[in-house]
Amino acid sequence: MNNYNIAVIPGDGIGTEVVDSAIKVLNEVSKKNNFKLNYKFYEWGSNYYFKNKLMMPKNGLELLSESESIFLGAIGHPEIQDHLTLNGLLLPIRRKFDQFVCIRPSVLFPGVNSPLKNVNEGEIDIIVVRENTEGEYANVGGFQYHETEDEIALQTAVFTRKGTERIIRYSFELAKQRSKKLTSITKSNAQGYSMVLWDRVFNEVSVDYPEIETNSLLIDAACMDFIRKPKDFDVVVASNLFGDILTDIGAMITGGLGLASSGNISLNKDNPSMFEPTHGSAPDIAGKNLANPIAQILTGAMMLSHLGENKAANDIREAVVKTLKNGNNLTSDLGGTSKTDQCTNEIIRHIWIQTKN
Ligand code: NAD
Ligand code: IPM
Ligand code: MN
Repeated sequence: MNNYNIAVIPGDGIGTEVVDSAIKVLNEVSKKNNFKLNYKFYEWGSNYYFKNKLMMPKNGLELLSESESIFLGAIGHPEIQDHLTLNGLLLPIRRKFDQFVCIRPSVLFPGVNSPLKNVNEGEIDIIVVRENTEGEYANVGGFQYHETEDEIALQTAVFTRKGTERIIRYSFELAKQRSKKLTSITKSNAQGYSMVLWDRVFNEVSVDYPEIETNSLLIDAACMDFIRKPKDFDVVVASNLFGDILTDIGAMITGGLGLASSGNISLNKDNPSMFEPTHGSAPDIAGKNLANPIAQILTGAMMLSHLGENKAANDIREAVVKTLKNGNNLTSDLGGTSKTDQCTNEIIRHIWIQTKN
């Protein structure tokens, strides 16, 4: 029987609720498909910070390196500045394990209403490939004359040729497996160094993929076109910050953050990849059993595909699609009246119905 070691960080706010749901679903599909997930739970995050003034222990990254994958809920607490929580836990994990690919699908599932007119199920099917370890998130900079009236803040974006090329090449390979269309997003009209390098590398790499139809868009135009003509997009590659922003739009046009899965992938087999939904800790609904667990559950399916358990991953996706289609047990963000646990139980019910058919 295949065994996998999974480090679980439920984190803050709704993170703990949706991770609880997703683990229940993962347990059912692993039972059904005859493999075992060995979880190690790490209670790191904002509560840990209140006690220790750190988001994780000093050897936290070392502990995580023992796992095959990391399954994370969300990080962020209204009483702690976000740059402390996120730079104390989430972002160092992405960097330490070289999880340079962030995969974010936006799919309009059956039964889900897009806020856009004239789009039907399946007609939006986009994967954003977000560069995940450098660019605008490089964490390079500092303050001068801190907290004086002469204060200066420097925040430097770092675009390496190697980092740019590998994310672009990854996207071309992905486009090859899909509808052979790739859109690159930059802002090279205003950012005349980093984004010009990106455009140049994109053009160079495209020569190796003559079968792929390519397009380059400025980020502002891309935001507009995600809303105006989302059906035109297939694979989209973007820098760290632009990918972050674009994937919230991608989520909203396909039913919201409650459905948006995400994976931070390392191509180094010795490093764990990390699976966490696109959404945050949602303090406005936390602790009320109101969160939509589907984003975290689909993120679990993404983790299983990454581990090679494709049948189990598909079992999850099919059960989610059936739950969305029949629409009886959805949470309020999707117009339903169900609670987190009712939606979770319905997905589990569909997982076992599949066996009987
Ligand atoms: P958010 O994603 O937490 O919430 C935005 C809105 O979407 C809220 O109204 C929330 O209720 C709703 N929402 C999000 N997920 C939902 C779900 N599963 N079901 C139903 N509704 C859902 O973004 P925010 O409010 O900007 O950020 C809150 C905190 O989370 C901040 O501290 C932020 O820094 C952090 N954050 C963390 C991550 C992460 O850990 N990966 C991602 C984004 C934001
Ligand atoms: C996301 C989040 C994070 C990011 C924040 C919380 C640092 O918004 O995963 O989309 O920008 O990467
Ligand atoms: Mn984001």
